[in-house]
Amino acid sequence: MKTFLAVKPDGVERGLVGEVIKRVEDRGLKIVGMKMIWLDEEMAEEHYEEHKDKEFFSELISYITSSPIVAMAIEGQNAVSVIRDMIGATNPSEASPGTIRGDYALDIEQNVVHAADSKETAERELNMYFDEEELHNY
Ligand code: PPS
Repeated sequence: MKTFLAVKPDGVERGLVGEVIKRVEDRGLKIVGMKMIWLDEEMAEEHYEEHKDKEFFSELISYITSSPIVAMAIEGQNAVSVIRDMIGATNPSEASPGTIRGDYALDIEQNVVHAADSKETAERELNMYFDEEELHNY
């Protein structure tokens, strides 16, 4: 199964891309697609459309468009839940030590990474970020 993982602007700016990749590879998961993209507002709003009614939405859009992100397609057994466990809780004060957010997140917005939370979300986000020929079989 495949899932979607992205290093968010604070992670890219702070030089945490390699750390995230290392953790994914050390866990035995396979990176089958990867690209750096600077989201425009339209793409950011599409990505976070389920949160459009939240009071933090406009702040979230400004943040996610403030620097490039590194988008990844990750393959492995139970990849969705394995990656969600590895990234930790959204709010760093609730994220366990040893998780990416528990170790590096600054606050609930600047929390280093985003990952799909279900198989359906993973399919939607992979389709949004990658063309079929950008996902490799090896
Ligand atoms: S919710 O309300 O439970 O659905 O929200 P949650 O899943 O915790 O968070 C959804 C994404 O929104 C970001 N977020 C925020 N950004 C800015 N300000 C505030 N207050 C805030 N709260 C949540 C959070 O980082 C989540 O981003 P992703 O990329 O989905 O992890």
